[in-house]
Amino acid sequence: MMRIVVLISGSGSNLQAIIDACSDGTISGNIAAVISNKADAFGLERAKRSGIATAVINHKDFADRESFDDALLTCVNAYLPDLVIMAGFMRILTPNFITPLLGKMINIHPSLLPKYTGLHTHQRAIDAGEKEAGATVHFVTEELDGGPPVIQTAVPIFAGDDASQLAARVLQQEHKIFPLATKWFCEGRLTLENGKALLDGDILPDTGFTFND
Ligand code: GRF
Repeated sequence: MMRIVVLISGSGSNLQAIIDACSDGTISGNIAAVISNKADAFGLERAKRSGIATAVINHKDFADRESFDDALLTCVNAYLPDLVIMAGFMRILTPNFITPLLGKMINIHPSLLPKYTGLHTHQRAIDAGEKEAGATVHFVTEELDGGPPVIQTAVPIFAGDDASQLAARVLQQEHKIFPLATKWFCEGRLTLENGKALLDGDILPDTGFTFND
């Protein structure tokens, strides 16, 4: 069984989807710990309910990003993870944290990458008159939201949508693609080699595997 550490900052609905998929055997992995940079993240409650160890490392306790990242890495490594999952973890990470975990860390980003890296993705997609939005699971590299995509899924943007309606539609899809990417990784099917994401040894397309319901 792969050992998984999940990083969160908020509600943890993606965390919940992964907890559920581990419990029902869809994912052959165990979540060893959930770590948050915010003490009041609801995802910590979700972890506790499922008997999963939790830790809080508050970024405000550190003078700079590097010292926070060093403490976070020490905490993560204490759980001996095979896979680190960023599930709504809202901190920009430095190479201090990322480099040692390269190839074993994935993130979910609520846009059709490479479009709309960064924050406020849904409002920006609406403002630009896009017809589609979506989410992307990708390997984490030193480039913010720029690592190789693993899975991408699109949803329609309807006339009159506001950002929260669109976010809810995208989130439903996130709860499908994040457990699927985690399952692949835990089965040894998903790897990062020479800066490319591979599934079953084949290089994935630039936008990842296209997931359709
Ligand atoms: C998700 O939309 C994720 O893509 C984004 O933050 C949100 C986290 O939601 N980065 P949750 O905490 O998993 O409910």
